[in-house]
Amino acid sequence: MRITDTADLWWKTAVVYCLDVETFLDWNDDGTGDLAGLAQRIDYLADLGVTCLWLMPFYPTPERDDGYDITDFYGVDPRLGTHGDLVEAIRTAHDRGLRVIVDLVVNHTSDQHPWFVEARSSKESRYRDWYVWVDEPPAGKQPEPVFPDQENSVWTLDEQTGQYYLHHFYRHQPDLNVTNPEVRDEIARIVGFWLALGVSGFRVDAVPFFIDPLGEPSGALPDPHEVVRHLRAFLNRRTGDAILLGEVNVPYEQQLEFFGGSEGGELTLQFDFITMQNMYLALARQDAAPLAKALQERPAIPPECQWGTFVRNHDELTLDKLSESERQEVFDAFGPEKRMQVFGRGLIRRLPPMLDGDPDRIRMVYSLLFTLPGTPVLFYGEEIGMGENLDIGDRNSVRTPMQWTSGPGAGFSIAEDLTAPVVTGRFGPEQVNVQAQRADPDSLLTFVKLLISRYRNSPELGWGEFAVLDQPHPAVFAHRVTWEDETLVALHNFAAEKVSVPLDLGDSVRNCDLIDLLGDQNTTVDDRGRLEVELGRYGYRWLRVARPGSRRLL
Ligand code: NOJ
Repeated sequence: MRITDTADLWWKTAVVYCLDVETFLDWNDDGTGDLAGLAQRIDYLADLGVTCLWLMPFYPTPERDDGYDITDFYGVDPRLGTHGDLVEAIRTAHDRGLRVIVDLVVNHTSDQHPWFVEARSSKESRYRDWYVWVDEPPAGKQPEPVFPDQENSVWTLDEQTGQYYLHHFYRHQPDLNVTNPEVRDEIARIVGFWLALGVSGFRVDAVPFFIDPLGEPSGALPDPHEVVRHLRAFLNRRTGDAILLGEVNVPYEQQLEFFGGSEGGELTLQFDFITMQNMYLALARQDAAPLAKALQERPAIPPECQWGTFVRNHDELTLDKLSESERQEVFDAFGPEKRMQVFGRGLIRRLPPMLDGDPDRIRMVYSLLFTLPGTPVLFYGEEIGMGENLDIGDRNSVRTPMQWTSGPGAGFSIAEDLTAPVVTGRFGPEQVNVQAQRADPDSLLTFVKLLISRYRNSPELGWGEFAVLDQPHPAVFAHRVTWEDETLVALHNFAAEKVSVPLDLGDSVRNCDLIDLLGDQNTTVDDRGRLEVELGRYGYRWLRVARPGSRRLL
């Protein structure tokens, strides 16, 4: 791999930070976060070390799905600011070396989008065929709606015109008809528009639903993946280095297809939902096996593609890819009360409360995140260990204001009425906030900064070959990532008992020093390629093999 490849393929070693402008920082004192507030916090984010911001939807919206119900794909919600404010925020990010990607939510619109208002006004409407209409829901088993607590069908009757329209999500989010070339052209224009304003790509919402031609005559879209291929080709023609980071929660074999198979050419990155879910199962069992198995089952992907690894996102912590009994184990361990669960498949909690605030265990999980092969994606507030507000309920429980200070409104806003309530209690702003942690060398924030810095200085984590290392302790996950003469060995202890882990790293590293990347306990491999590594309760180690002549720092 040449230096030019590693520089151009920036997403292979990026650290992505997801935030919602609405809950990040309120700069005009109206209780809602705004783009001017975001611009004020770019220095904080640059200092944290993240390299790419993912802005959740900031488009005009009736807010019935936290902004994922959009009424103008080219607009900026006036509550958050203007196009001018957005460009200022993007420009400031670029100035500090950060890229910005934005949500592309084109599976559906809001039912208040002028296209849908027009489409439902008559069967003859110019926009009628921009959505999916049927006289009767098709025979045979239909897909389950994604939000089964609120919808019982993906088809809803439109009284006025007597036909049913498709919506994989809420009924107020009618699906666009991707088989219609006019719709595909419009999507390209939307992509082109935001690229022209300086974004470096898109987090693409609900990709499998988006290309599903359900309800259209068979043959209307002979190869649904062609839609993604075209979008990617268009993106590349416009910018060369912009990305599509896809939300694709499907089995691994199908995920490979969304990368474009072994040839690539579709999504640049995809979230690894399977590893994430198995990580929670491993935590619940204090047994690393499910995590190791998931990672070993990951298909090989083209070199320019990448997995997005994460601990938490803005939705429910979905456990849908676990078996019923596995999911129950995670529920029992981390969300036993019904009010902590949603849709029968997920949890609405953040990590620190699930781990009862245990600092060793929380750090172990973030250490793990940054050593997993892939590109880590953080959700705002994770870096300080924010909790959730269960009283809000549903997925909104984790979408609370960022906790900047211990003051009223968490330093997020001085307004009386906030766009969302802050977290209360043990993980509330009095105990958990940026200001206090910035001044504390032992804080989680300081630790996450260290992890980010070490991750950035260890490109093998983004580029390398991954292997699980054999060792006798079920609670320990030991792995190695190798890339161009560089080898990083990482160990994570999923249990509270201390362990001593024997490792056999093989002949090629005989007598090499191992540099402790997170501390000062350097060690050496013996003349048979072996060593013993001590791990404390929920302990973790990152060890770089220092081969003679290795020039990598640390
Ligand atoms: C996936 C998003 O992550 C979620 O928040 C949203 O509700 C649905 N897509 C519908 O857009």
